[in-house]
Amino acid sequence: MRVVILSALLLLLNLNLSWVKASEKNTYRTGNKLPNVIIIMADDMGFDDISLRGGREFLTPNIDALGFHGRLLDRLYAPAMCTPSRGALLSGKYPIHTGTQHFVISNEEPWSLMLNTTLMPEIFRSAGYSTNLVGKWHLGFARPEYTPTHRGFDYHYGYWGAYIDYYQRRSQMPEKTYIVGYDFRRNMEVECTDRGVYVTDLLTNEAERIIQETAAKQKPLFLMINHLATHTANDNDPLQAPEEEVQKFLHIKDPNHRKYAAMVSKLDQSVGRVITALARAEQLENSIVIFYSDNGAPSVGMFANTGSNWPLKGQKNSPWEGGVRVAGVIWSQLLTARGHLFTQPIYVGDFLPTLAHAAGIELPESLQLDGIDLWPQLAGSKDAPHVPREILHSLDDVSHFSSLLLGQWKYVNGTTLAGQFDQQLTHRELDELDPRARRYVVEVRNSPASKALARYDLQRLTQHRMHTLRRLATVRCGDMQRGCNALLEECLYDLSVDPCELNNLAYSERHAEILATMRQRVQQLRAEALPPGNRPGVSYANPNLHECTWDNFEVKKAGAVPLDCDYHGIPCSA
Ligand SMILES: *[C@@H]1O[C@H](CO)[C@@H](O)[C@H](O)[C@H]1NC(C)=O
Ligand SMILES: *[C@@H]1O[C@H](CO)[C@@H](O)[C@H](O)[C@H]1NC(C)=O
Repeated sequence: MRVVILSALLLLLNLNLSWVKASEKNTYRTGNKLPNVIIIMADDMGFDDISLRGGREFLTPNIDALGFHGRLLDRLYAPAMCTPSRGALLSGKYPIHTGTQHFVISNEEPWSLMLNTTLMPEIFRSAGYSTNLVGKWHLGFARPEYTPTHRGFDYHYGYWGAYIDYYQRRSQMPEKTYIVGYDFRRNMEVECTDRGVYVTDLLTNEAERIIQETAAKQKPLFLMINHLATHTANDNDPLQAPEEEVQKFLHIKDPNHRKYAAMVSKLDQSVGRVITALARAEQLENSIVIFYSDNGAPSVGMFANTGSNWPLKGQKNSPWEGGVRVAGVIWSQLLTARGHLFTQPIYVGDFLPTLAHAAGIELPESLQLDGIDLWPQLAGSKDAPHVPREILHSLDDVSHFSSLLLGQWKYVNGTTLAGQFDQQLTHRELDELDPRARRYVVEVRNSPASKALARYDLQRLTQHRMHTLRRLATVRCGDMQRGCNALLEECLYDLSVDPCELNNLAYSERHAEILATMRQRVQQLRAEALPPGNRPGVSYANPNLHECTWDNFEVKKAGAVPLDCDYHGIPCSA
């Protein structure tokens, strides 16, 4: 017995050592320092909601600056919902390999991302990084061992559940039998300070502090900033932004969309502040910064935030491009092809091996990743050969739909919510132009992010280059030729000529072989899928039994008498 334990320990030690072994060989790094890794994640922000794609209703100059000075991840793919998307990022695996392929973890449900899978922060921690999560978790909290500081993060400041109110930091789940609960913590402790501060600012303040303190300690930084923006808050007040920010968008007629623009704008400013903080701490030149959205925007339906995935079809919680092809940019001085689009398909599960490579961390085979290392392509020349690849967008045998990418081909079988989202759901309002849109180039150049990044440019960011990149980033749909009713038939698209999924090729003789291949591949993946980890909600999760907080309800004893939590965040009111 003891021998077994000892050899298991040795094995673990060995793995840990092998993770850092490659660091001496890394040729991309400047000096000998491990690069800082900063991942900024938006929640439910639309494909077309970064103005780099050409939108003019509201601008995102800081995010755009990352793309112009770095690279727009033109075809970044993610699972179409929060939990599976975050699980894929952190594990480097398809959701079918971590039990997260169906829907999400609602706060009252006692399950989590599979515990026996190694997560990205654990890997970076073993390589000597300080690992920090600011903001949302949403991978389970019913037991302490499900939560961020038990899963590789040294530090967490933020919330465990699906979403919160932007000011009160409380949430009520759609299943209204559970009352509103407070959900904001510093590590395991309920965090009450700074009440009433807009949460996007709060998370940014914390990120700035971490950047500064980690630099002072001369430790390499792994920092994820998982924003609440632009997810909706509770049903009674879903879209929230400071009034003075909303006032900047009076040209937008729909009051909800006006608030959404303000939420995006605050998020964009946050990105500018983070870049500035890195520059001030003299860490920028040695950092890799990624900004992206966890999935497409829910333009309509549950948690609808008016975000736009135009011109793509579908939205969050659907198999279509509007759900899975997400807004994303990367900047690092380590990228030699800065200032060019990255047009290869890249999956959020690729970030783990890709960033590990950038940090010189060698990953053991035993991790069995679905993600692949694209660092050579990303960092290398602008025309690096495309890596032919597969991406499984979804395989959900509870809701009965699947979606698979293989090279230029996309296969969809079944769909969500009786096909309600199976079309283009938004358009661009051409008569609601942001007054700043006319001076777009100046707005981007004057953004805090651009000012900090420009000194690392390999070629000057001219107006011409910006226009060219923006034009290249604009998706052009073809004409609808043969539609597909995914409820009744299989759909096959050639995304290289049909990015908007308008022409079903499943009946074309010429495509019979690729159709058969993809069908077979889905069956194969189905055979290796773990059962979904979903568990029904439990009544003892109710915050009124846990001092009005969302707590580790599987291990914490529930109060005998439910509290009246119906006034401002009880746990913090004393
Ligand atoms: C993890 O646990 C699940 C069951 O919960 C099991 O099916 C799977 O094989 C395990 N995976 C690893 C890598 O140990
Ligand atoms: C396609 O969907 C149908 C209906 O749900 C199902 O019977 C069939 O097995 C699916 N095919 C694949 C390859 O998943």
